[in-house]
Amino acid sequence: MALDECQSSAFKTAVCHSDIHQARNEWGIAVYPLMPGHEIVGKVTAVGANVSRHKVGDLVGVGCMVDSCRHCEACAADLEQYCLEGPTMTYATPDRVDGSNTMGGYSDSIVVSEHFVVRIPEKLDLASAAPILCAGITTYSPLKHYGVKAGDKVGILGMGGLGHMGIKFAKALGAEVTLFTRSAGKAEEARRQGADHVIVSTDPAQMQSVAGHFNFLLDTIPVPHDLNPYLDTLRFDGVHILVGLIEPVDPALHAGKLVMSRRVLAGSLIGGIAETQEVLDFCAEHGITCDIEMLDIRQINEAYERMIKGDVKYRFVIDMATLKA
Ligand SMILES: NC(=O)c1ccc[n+]([C@@H]2O[C@H](COP(=O)([O-])OP(=O)(O)OC[C@H]3O[C@@H](n4cnc5c(N)ncnc54)[C@H](OP(=O)(O)O)[C@@H]3O)[C@@H](O)[C@H]2O)c1
Ligand SMILES: [Zn+2]
Ligand SMILES: [Zn+2]
Repeated sequence: MALDECQSSAFKTAVCHSDIHQARNEWGIAVYPLMPGHEIVGKVTAVGANVSRHKVGDLVGVGCMVDSCRHCEACAADLEQYCLEGPTMTYATPDRVDGSNTMGGYSDSIVVSEHFVVRIPEKLDLASAAPILCAGITTYSPLKHYGVKAGDKVGILGMGGLGHMGIKFAKALGAEVTLFTRSAGKAEEARRQGADHVIVSTDPAQMQSVAGHFNFLLDTIPVPHDLNPYLDTLRFDGVHILVGLIEPVDPALHAGKLVMSRRVLAGSLIGGIAETQEVLDFCAEHGITCDIEMLDIRQINEAYERMIKGDVKYRFVIDMATLKA
């Protein structure tokens, strides 16, 4: 362990849809052997001599990144996720020190430089806090970046791990929140999460009823989908923020839908380390947690299938201790 590193164990790790994309090489960038998991909480078990932020026994979290260059313009602005030399992701990227493939949190311990380790506020339940490390920060960061405020009309596309956190954050920021879902059966649940309205996206009449309505759309849908009907629901100057999609858009979007109403199509990647601490503290302050289902790691393949069907409320969390029981 290096002087600035913390070791953490007693893990609980939540399961992100990105784990499925990577385990199945759906983005074409996977490197095997691959150990997913980037929503990690645990307890510090050892620290290097130069570590000052964390001590043995602290409850801590590790999200999607474990390193970056730490000197470029993005890193200097606390935006390590946009590091100009490329951030080192928690799994499946070359370690900056020894070049080996990083291994994620479906594991029982991890060693990470203290800068990339965040504090879990005492008020938060540990397992329910784990998904904040990715699903939470990924939805919080763009809503903050675009200045979502009281009275804004925000649409959340898809209610899974990211989407249900997006509803909670948009509501906490004072917005009027609408869930767009392909699953009509989720309407009641969505209202319980804080959504004011629900639109079933497969129903053209419901989509038409909100034409030109929204200031912001936060799009968490994990597969290529037609953006055009969603762009139609934005006001002029409205912003459609992609977080779920990194593939080519298919069918092509109609540029006129942007040009004619000065609309913006944007993207956003997780959030920086300082902002990840901020969202954890925000959740503690506002009583926001993730809705979770505990999972035995031996059921991980079934869990992936259930996630693809949308059959989880709304994040699986693996307690690594069960493996040793
Ligand atoms: N940008 C980033 O930094 C970042 C960070 C984390 C994750 N991600 C990506 O964000 C995406 C969502 O992750 P997640 O963990 O929230 O996934 P998830 O829990 O599986 O939820 C995705 C939701 O999208 C909707 N959906 C799923 N398949 C669909 C389909 N074929 N057509 C239309 N809607 C569909 C479903 O909601 P309804 O049933 O309500 O329609 C589903 O609950 C993934 O692609 C993940 O890789 C990006
Ligand atoms: Zn993730
Ligand atoms: Zn950098």
